[in-house]
Amino acid sequence: MKKLFILTGIVLLLLSVSCNRPNEADAVKLDTNWKFKTGDDPAWASPGFDDASWGTIDPKTIWEEQGYKGYNGFAWYRFKTLVRSSLKDQNNMNDSLKIVLGKIDDCDQVFLNGELIGENGKTIYTKALPSDGFIRAQDKWNLERRYILASNDPRIYWDRENLVAVRCFDQGGAGGMFGKPFEIAMTGLRDHLNFDFASTAFIFSGDSLVTKNFSVINLTGTERLKGELIVEAVQCDNGIRIYSNRSIIDLPPHQKVEKSVTFRNKSAVPATLHVSFKEAMTRKTVSEDVEIPYILTPKSPAEPRINGAKIFGVRPWSPFQYKVAATGQPPLKYRATDLPEGLAINAENGLITGSLKKKGEYVVRLTVENQRGYAERDLKIVVGDVISLTPPMGWNSWNCWGLSVSDKKVRQSADAMKSSGLIDHGWSYINIDDGWEDTHDKNGSILPNYKFPNMPGLCGYVHSLGLKVGIYSSPGPRTCGGYEGSYGFEAKDAMTYAGWGIDYLKYDWCSYGNIAPDPTPEQMKKPYKEMKHALRKANRDIHYSLCQYGMGDVWTWGAEVDGNSWRTTGDIEDTWQSLSSIGFSQGKCSPSSAPGRWNDPDMLVVGLVGWGPALHHTRLTPSEQYTHLTLWSLLAAPLLVGCDLEQLDAFTLNLLTNDEVLAVNQDPLGRQAVQIRKTDDYEVWSRDLEDGSKAVGLFNKTERSLCVPVDMKDLHVDGKRSMRDLWAQTDLGKVRGHFEMRTRPHGARMVILSK
Ligand code: GLA
Repeated sequence: MKKLFILTGIVLLLLSVSCNRPNEADAVKLDTNWKFKTGDDPAWASPGFDDASWGTIDPKTIWEEQGYKGYNGFAWYRFKTLVRSSLKDQNNMNDSLKIVLGKIDDCDQVFLNGELIGENGKTIYTKALPSDGFIRAQDKWNLERRYILASNDPRIYWDRENLVAVRCFDQGGAGGMFGKPFEIAMTGLRDHLNFDFASTAFIFSGDSLVTKNFSVINLTGTERLKGELIVEAVQCDNGIRIYSNRSIIDLPPHQKVEKSVTFRNKSAVPATLHVSFKEAMTRKTVSEDVEIPYILTPKSPAEPRINGAKIFGVRPWSPFQYKVAATGQPPLKYRATDLPEGLAINAENGLITGSLKKKGEYVVRLTVENQRGYAERDLKIVVGDVISLTPPMGWNSWNCWGLSVSDKKVRQSADAMKSSGLIDHGWSYINIDDGWEDTHDKNGSILPNYKFPNMPGLCGYVHSLGLKVGIYSSPGPRTCGGYEGSYGFEAKDAMTYAGWGIDYLKYDWCSYGNIAPDPTPEQMKKPYKEMKHALRKANRDIHYSLCQYGMGDVWTWGAEVDGNSWRTTGDIEDTWQSLSSIGFSQGKCSPSSAPGRWNDPDMLVVGLVGWGPALHHTRLTPSEQYTHLTLWSLLAAPLLVGCDLEQLDAFTLNLLTNDEVLAVNQDPLGRQAVQIRKTDDYEVWSRDLEDGSKAVGLFNKTERSLCVPVDMKDLHVDGKRSMRDLWAQTDLGKVRGHFEMRTRPHGARMVILSK
């Protein structure tokens, strides 16, 4: 028995060791003691300048959160440190020094001892005169800043005090340094060699064949890298090795080698791919673990099934568009009985259109039929003041295309929303984010730029597919991406949007920060009220999405300015740090959530994302993505995927098409989950549903597999309940008092407890 314990201990130790990130080389940490000043003066780059009167700042967090609310423009950070030459002795690959500065929103120039060494993430190798050209790059805020200098570069003062000065420029929204790490260190093997797992997705063939293509890249411009590459795949729950391969690779400078591995593993069984490279000369190893996606959502049956929202709000006289979302073997025939006068359903595609004149409630019976059978369900139509009675579900261009969005990409995304089948699970909005605007013409009408030659045509096309269209603007003169905003043109813009056929407006504070730099609560509401009135005059139901990153606890007043949803946070990124800190802090907004009034913790970062033309697969592990969808569904959050829909991989599609999970998000009661239990290791959240049952999410915040316990007293549940696993869509029998579920590292389980 003792042996078994020791053995289990060793296995657990190995498992936990394999989850840890590689040790960082010895480094000078730069995460405290920075000096800071807003403004701009070239003298601030100089080591001789006296910054004693400057304030201090934490570089890990944007300046807005440290007393510089709404500040846009130039600001400088300065840090002084001794750089010892002994750093060089701790590493065999000691030819270069790196200065790593987290991320910088929006743009930066970095000076070492008065000399420019880098701009917007790119090292400057030769002496260069600083110019202001760097501030034109507004799309670099999400890049890691890593400036690498040869160790004999005269800009480094070995064994003396060095001054790192960072000149930042922020156009709008969040500003300054943030993220991690902040350090000065010698480059190690990790800086010379990289694995690229993110360019392609895992490929599943049948139920058990998994293929992964990846590449090993030599990043150095001068050195050849030779060594052994070991690739192993191991099942997580039992440690069984399902694949192993060793090969020698020899990589000339700046070259990469493509690798492809294929092995058998049941698609629902969690496993990890371990890849390591042992460099022959230094005998140093770099390794990376990749969680292999596991597929949980069962296939939709061939028999018809009706999905999507069970309740739909519309204003009197507004154009009505509701698509009955349904799966099943095609062709499907759609019917709706008891449709109120003014509405009609298209039997071929399930699109209900028309308009309703009078306020009131109607219950319509929907039927979907195919050769295999039929499904029936009620749809409640509420004609009143409030729209978006369930959180919007759709796509937004920002997290993949950034400012490079175009008419073509939007049409292709709409086509893919349909052809991928997402539309059959209730996904319906196609939202154009920043980057479509040109200028207001002499009549004050907003003109789209050359990438959008025909807005009404584009909207008509998206509608013809049974989808809806969204657009983006700012109450300020400029959007966050530097494009034309709506300031002074609110009424005209709202009419233009309605004329084009727009169904959703994301209204992003951005440069309004220059108009109201330190806004009072009233000043915060003012521009949103203005657009509210403009939209209400437009006679079209336009979902009004406020985006001002949660300022002034927007969830306490978003409904007052008629917002249908409001961003509660800054921009999300595809990292666990970002996802977990945003997701698990949403409890404070729970009481404000109601049908038509949704807290918005930002978009889904799954699939191929990238904020610009170059895309990568999300850096979230599959388990983290299950957490993302589970938590966002419990939070009744708008679900807007931000990935390239044309390149949806099997895992992402499976993740986005679990109708039982989505039904929690779309539950007509519209009550947001509350945090039931929080420890350092796990959290439990629970949401009341319309039928009296409870949806419960169990979240593992650690990097090891964990049994998450739930005390049903915390849920105010007495007696026995039936429990159903929503991801697997299987019944788990009855529970009483207490239950616990094994949960993957950073992963989630989601159940419904019903009587
Ligand atoms: C802000 C918003 C993002 C996106 C960009 C566009 O950062 O928070 O979601 O809309 O602006 O510039």
